[in-house]
Amino acid sequence: DKGGWSSFMAKEISEEPDAVANTIRGRVVDGLVQIPEMEGLDDETLRSIDRILIIACGTAAYAGMVGKYAIEQWARIPVDVELAHEFRYREPVLSPNTLVVSISQSGETMDTLMAVKYARERGARTLSICNTQGATIPRESDAIVYTHAGPEVAVASTKAFVAQITACYLFGLQLAQARETLSTDAVRALVADLQKVPDQLREVLKSGDRIAELAHWMADTRSVLFLGRHVGYPIALEGALKLKELAYIHAEGFAAGELKHGPIALIEPGQIVFVIVPSPRDERSLHAKVVSNIQEIRARGARVIAIAEAGDVAVLPHADEVIRIPLASPFFEPLLAVVPLHFFGMELAAAKGLDVDQPRNLAKSVTVE
Ligand code: F6R
Repeated sequence: DKGGWSSFMAKEISEEPDAVANTIRGRVVDGLVQIPEMEGLDDETLRSIDRILIIACGTAAYAGMVGKYAIEQWARIPVDVELAHEFRYREPVLSPNTLVVSISQSGETMDTLMAVKYARERGARTLSICNTQGATIPRESDAIVYTHAGPEVAVASTKAFVAQITACYLFGLQLAQARETLSTDAVRALVADLQKVPDQLREVLKSGDRIAELAHWMADTRSVLFLGRHVGYPIALEGALKLKELAYIHAEGFAAGELKHGPIALIEPGQIVFVIVPSPRDERSLHAKVVSNIQEIRARGARVIAIAEAGDVAVLPHADEVIRIPLASPFFEPLLAVVPLHFFGMELAAAKGLDVDQPRNLAKSVTVE
């Protein structure tokens, strides 16, 4: 039931705040993270792990990339992300101290399932982040962190994506507590900030009408580029994937720092570029670097739509359009920045008269290799 929405996707985007809130619910005790279902991986085991490998496909792999930045930073463990179908065929080096984290909305993706089985057979520990109770992948894993996005019907993933990222944050914080790599105060501050995200997402949903206008003006565009940096990079990839699958146009996401190593050659007058702008409060000073990227592409005639935090005035003179997101901890910005891109994919597809819930050639869960 679409509940009065024009499509399941429209409904599911509107549920992104609840997907995050429901994934956090029941996992915070006294301001700290306590994931009850993690019993299969107790604190002692979590302390013995020396490497994490996240495996997933498509959108779920982009959620894993966001997770990598957060988990590595907070728990001081090397984290890699790999596409499940690549992982299994290169004889990866695994040990009992390797934790393989799979991420899957359906829990039935064959490539991911086979990668989990492979990892388990070779002695690695396995954790499943999954949205579907009792699905095959969680049943094959040592521990499960369910995302509570609710059933996702539209083929393109939206609310499950933000729930997957949220689960990665919770897992990263639980790991940091067990390994004592963050102080209790630092964890409490991050948890408190994460708990603010659902309301902040409700704010971001208000940008939907403006995005719909932009998408309708751009209905004839044949290519859109997305730039992001740090945790904004996977969001750029996600924005591009949604446009490919929903609106059937060429779209690519790049790490902003990579621009001068090649992609800038693509920029010609009229090229539409979405830029996810890091917070000016970020201590890594990535904001200035991305603003300078914007200047470079604008000088070559690109039309820039910036997604930037409220109060970031430095970006204003350089962008054709600025979509605002509320102030959040830099690590949590991906949750906020992705919503306008989910809207954009849906609205551009709608402007082209396409079926946003059932894009051509795609299935909701890919149960063949
Ligand atoms: C994109 C999309 C796909 C899935 C991928 C993995 O919008 O939905 O890329 O993310 O097929 O599916 P799950 O998460 O079910 O393993």
